[in-house]
Amino acid sequence: MKDALAALAAGLDDGADLLAQLEGPFARCVRQHPRRGQLSGWGSLTPLPWHAAGFSHGVEIDPGTRLDYHTGVAYPQDGASQIPVLALSPQPGEVVVDACAAPGSKSTQIGLALGDTGLLLCLDLSPQRRRVLVENLARQGVCCGVVCPVPIGRLAGMHPGCADAVLVDAPCSGHQSRSPKQTAREGRRQLRLLGDAAGLVRAGGRMVYSTCAPYREENEDVISAFLAAHPGWQLEPVQLPGTDVDLDGLGALRMWPQRQGTEPFFACRLRAPGDAPRASLAGDMPAAELDARIPEALHCWRRGTVRLLASPAVASCAIPSEARGIIFDRGEGGGNSELEPWAAQALIERGADAHTVSHAEACALWAGDDLQSPGPARGLVRTEHGAPLGQLEASGTRLRLPSRMRRSALV
Ligand SMILES: C[S@@+](CC[C@H](N)C(=O)[O-])C[C@H]1O[C@@H](n2cnc3c(N)ncnc32)[C@H](O)[C@@H]1O
Repeated sequence: MKDALAALAAGLDDGADLLAQLEGPFARCVRQHPRRGQLSGWGSLTPLPWHAAGFSHGVEIDPGTRLDYHTGVAYPQDGASQIPVLALSPQPGEVVVDACAAPGSKSTQIGLALGDTGLLLCLDLSPQRRRVLVENLARQGVCCGVVCPVPIGRLAGMHPGCADAVLVDAPCSGHQSRSPKQTAREGRRQLRLLGDAAGLVRAGGRMVYSTCAPYREENEDVISAFLAAHPGWQLEPVQLPGTDVDLDGLGALRMWPQRQGTEPFFACRLRAPGDAPRASLAGDMPAAELDARIPEALHCWRRGTVRLLASPAVASCAIPSEARGIIFDRGEGGGNSELEPWAAQALIERGADAHTVSHAEACALWAGDDLQSPGPARGLVRTEHGAPLGQLEASGTRLRLPSRMRRSALV
């Protein structure tokens, strides 16, 4: 049986280079949080031509050893994987569905673009991967996110036209060698997902389709079949500096290991026919709990022993959810409950008073060391680079981070 990769390479001028570089290594890239200060400790950073917040860095780094990763300042993400959300262009106040969201590289990127006024619905088939997604949303301080365990088609049946924009970052063959039969089967699955997701898009809304597979059967062919089956939908060309065009001149984007140095990628933006406002997802707003530290744009309310921090749109959203916003505290100790680390970071990021420690002191605190009191006996703390660290606990004249925040081997 002929290999689908060989067929693809035969149609490219630089097909031999594609075959040689398809397994990587790809350029190591990181995305910088827009409101959490400067990246630090990633070696020399080169901006990506297509994304102002994206950088490649030359050194092998385990993100788990970086304070920037734990404080959400940095999100390690392939350069090509940052493209779909740029094509989607989420705007503050919009409702966006990420239909295949886990582990959350693009959900976090969307959530940060929406800010505290939008609503981000994250769907994914895999419960295990949804748990990682919840953590990533919290680590990045995304308060406008709801993680929903409902299948795409069912949600579209319950709430047709509820979204201004939908991202379908589809399951795909990745960089695996595949037979034409396998890529055709994958393409049919992707087409079904895209069709289900289209039901969520309001009239005049947009949908981005993307994969990290190089195969035409999972990319150009899926889009052509979708357009043939959905009259009125149109492909809206997207141009981003430094990217390639698709194989059929449809107006989609392509990224290649042998050209951009990234993993292979395809992304395109589709526009739904007509023009109508989105269907409302609002339910009953839970009563807000007042707390001097919580910015007006956010909402805090109790569910059992857990308090949650979220945007008002998330708090009132009527769809079923496993997680929404960020856990503020657990209240297990009665009145004197401890602020959850990621909630503390979200508050610092949004302007809560915090005192500053040096990067070295921050790393020491994170590793579990005590610190001689640098200022107020207890409170929120950030690093000199602007990274929100968390809430300190006092013990005599020494300060430490709550045990949940301790990590070792930071550099
Ligand atoms: C390419 S990954 C998504 C990566 C993610 N967008 C990110 O940037 O971190 C594809 C995801 O689709 C999910 N998936 C597979 N079939 C699905 C379906 N029918 N509905 C929703 N999600 C599905 C998988 O569990 C997987 O997490």
